[in-house]
Parts: sequence; C-alpha cells; structure tokens
Amino acid sequence: MTDHYSVAVPFYDLWHDDGHVPDMREKLPSVLSGVRRSVLEIGAGTGRMTEVIAAATPAEIFAVEPSLGMRGVLLSRLADRPDLMERVTVLPYDALSVELDEPVEAVVMIAVLYTFSAAERAKLWQVLARQLEPGGLLVFNWRERPVAEPGELEQLDTYRVGRHDYEIWAQTLTASEELSTARFLYRIRHRGVVISEDEVVSSSHRPGLDALTAELTAAGFVPGDAPEGLLTWRLRK
Ligand SMILES: C[S@@+](CC[C@H](N)C(=O)[O-])C[C@H]1O[C@@H](n2cnc3c(N)ncnc32)[C@H](O)[C@@H]1O
Repeated sequence: MTDHYSVAVPFYDLWHDDGHVPDMREKLPSVLSGVRRSVLEIGAGTGRMTEVIAAATPAEIFAVEPSLGMRGVLLSRLADRPDLMERVTVLPYDALSVELDEPVEAVVMIAVLYTFSAAERAKLWQVLARQLEPGGLLVFNWRERPVAEPGELEQLDTYRVGRHDYEIWAQTLTASEELSTARFLYRIRHRGVVISEDEVVSSSHRPGLDALTAELTAAGFVPGDAPEGLLTWRLRK
C-alpha cells in the first residue's frame, strides 16, 4: 500500500472531526450493542473510531492500521489511556494479510471501503469471513453518492492552530461510477505565507449496493438492519 496518509496525518483529526466522525460516534454504539468479547477494526487510523468502539463495548480490540503515520497517532492516543492500552492490540498490517489467533465477534471498518478495488474487495470479504465467528457481525459505512464531477482545485476547510492556518484543498481529476481520482493539497500558512505544502493524488472506489450485496453474499454474509450511513452483515452460521 502507498502510504498517502502520512502527509495528511497532521490534518486528520482537525478535518475529520468535522466529517464522518460525529455521525459515526452517534450511530456505531447501537450497532455494536451486544458485542462483548472481541472486535477487529480495519483501518483504525488515528484511533477516533477505536475510542468509539471501546466506549460502546467492553470487548478486546484488534486495530489494524498499515500507515506508520496514522499508527503513530493511534499509539499516542492509547498511551494517554491506560484503560485502552490493556485491551487494544495494534496490528501494523494491511487488511488483506490479517490472520487473527481466534475468530472475533465483530469487524468494524469505517471510512476505509473506498480504498479497495473490486478485486481487492473480493479478497477482503474472504479474509474478514475467516476472522469472524459464525453469526459474527460486519459493520462498515456506505452511502449512495452522486458521481463527482472533475473540476478546479477548491479549498475544503481551514483550521487555526496557534498562529498558523491549516488548509485542505481538493480537486476531482477523474470520475466514473466506480472510481474517482482526486488531488489533495495540505497547506500550512504563517501570516498568509505558505510554509509547508504536501500533495497527494488518491483513488476512491465507490461500489454500488448491488455490487456489494453480490460480493458479500458470495463470501457467506447475510444483510442486517443498520442506521442510515452504515451497513451491517452477519456471517452465515
Ligand atoms: C480515512 S482513514 C479512516 C480512519 C478511521 N477508521 C476513522 O474513521 O477515523 C482510512 C484508513 O484506512 C487505512 N487503510 C488504507 N488501506 C488499508 C488497507 N488495505 N488495510 C487496512 N487499512 C487501510 C489508512 O491507512 C487510513 O488510516
């Protein structure tokens, strides 16, 4: 995996605390009610969702995070929380190479689905099915979205940190039903002057519900109920 996330790390919590994080904080706990023993979290990032899972369940958590930068913040977060240090194991792997010692009750994957191509997803569902106990729960976020339009570079957000402004800019470069590519600029300004700038070009896969249903059914999952913005599946018993 190319570690696009490293240059975005200083911006990550600033930006996503305005994005999917509050919505997931509200919706994830009810979906995880009843989970007691163990959760595998795919793409734990800086640990924002790890904290939500830990607050919603007493379960042991296996947090998979391949990006060194993101994992560094996750471990710093854990270091401030002795209660979490006891029950979160951080796995420095790609999701496709995870093999746990024993099956878990639930798998949670928030804001990660878009990183996998259709061929990678076919493998991912098989890997996750192997990590789940029969009847185990798979939760991830998904929404029907209109296809993005290629366009100009636009400023998405800016955050003041001390005397500096942290700016996030984005430009859709190409877009189709399943795949879009976008350019992101992460800028820091001091008194209006750019003192740091990093660029990332990344791809985003957006499978439709029909494609996901076919893939997950083939991998042995059956759909469950979920609040808007999330999908839940159970591994067939
Ligand atoms: C947008 S962040 C989401 C982080 C966290 N789940 C959250 O909601 O705040 C996507 C995360 O997925 C991780 N990721 C990307 N590809 C991955 C893969 N193949 N396996 C596991 N994690 C992956 C990235 O390193 C990044 O930390």
